[in-house]
Amino acid sequence: ALRGSFALKVQKENQSSQYHLQPHATFKVAVLGAAGGIGQPLALLIKMSPLVSALNLYDIANVKGVAADLSHCNTPSQVLDFTGPSELANCLKGANVVVIPAGVPRKPGMTRDDLFNINAGIVRNLIEAVADNCPDAFIHVISNPVNSTVPIAAEVLKQKGVYDPKKLFGVTTLDVVRANTFVAQKKNLKLIDVDVPVVGGHAGITILPLLSKTKPSVSFTDEEIQELTVRIQNAGTEVVEAKAGAGSATLSMAYAAARFVESSLRALDGDGDVYECCYVQSDLTELPFLASRVKLGRQGVEALITSDLQGLTEYEQKALETLKPELKASIEKGLAFAQKQT
Ligand code: NAD
Ligand code: LMR
Repeated sequence: ALRGSFALKVQKENQSSQYHLQPHATFKVAVLGAAGGIGQPLALLIKMSPLVSALNLYDIANVKGVAADLSHCNTPSQVLDFTGPSELANCLKGANVVVIPAGVPRKPGMTRDDLFNINAGIVRNLIEAVADNCPDAFIHVISNPVNSTVPIAAEVLKQKGVYDPKKLFGVTTLDVVRANTFVAQKKNLKLIDVDVPVVGGHAGITILPLLSKTKPSVSFTDEEIQELTVRIQNAGTEVVEAKAGAGSATLSMAYAAARFVESSLRALDGDGDVYECCYVQSDLTELPFLASRVKLGRQGVEALITSDLQGLTEYEQKALETLKPELKASIEKGLAFAQKQT
């Protein structure tokens, strides 16, 4: 089961056999693109984690002030700033988790794929540095189009001889967060209880909420399923339009990314009960990458949860088949981009 974030570890403190709630700050997290709309609130949320001992913030500009500001919070992690490519290697050395929200966001009228030309190169360069400096880290890719940037990252890591498919993740937590929120609102459920797995990818119809697998078990009318599915698929665009040119989701994204970071840290810390949906290398379908629920462990993906894709409703099965060609094309576009560079 999913637990609340910011878990505290109960530790035996001394010989007097008294137990205290103690933070267990041992992990180093690097955020690349840390001065941006997502990067800043994400860095704040990571700064609140009792599991983090070092928070390294990297951007091409404006990161000094963000780090100075955050460093005054009286939480365990030490915050350091790194500006520009010459400081990237030092930012990454020793990192356990690297989170990448670097790149341009959408404006109204754009698809996520319209960001490919700029963001593909940014992700490629950052992943090259990750490969050179912290090849064992969990890598969380937020930069869009995630459906393509994760295959780019995989290919770059392969070229560098350090690809571990269990440690490369496209962050799709926001789709789950949205699905949980919208379902709870529609069905009058307690938010904390609701968990909807979201599979496929992270763009338009490739985002497939499996409403039939909602926990607690809920029944939906056909109209509710259609309405909720479309709302979850278009939620990013809903925010892009509301921001009217000032970018895309940043605060809810930071919240979602912080949840995924915390889950990863708990898994690294030995918690044996950590499950998240994310976009990973997969053999659940014929596509080489797919978002699905996974079990996280110290080595990354411990298992893909196959049961979510079994016993789908006719609506979900059809939607899964419909999304495959688009997702396949986005994967191939990413792979081709990374292969062309060699
Ligand atoms: P933003 O423009 O506010 O911030 C991006 C930051 O990246 C900036 O600070 C910029 O200086 C930095 N940057 C640019 N090039 C860089 C490089 N080479 N190295 C390091 N940093 C670099 O954008 P944002 O709103 O924070 O969004 C960032 C990305 O996240 C976009 O691609 C957006 O589409 C994506 N996004 C993904 C999800 C998701 O669910 N996966 C959700 C929201 C946004
Ligand atoms: C989102 O889902 O909010 C992000 O992918 C940003 C976007 O462009 O919609």
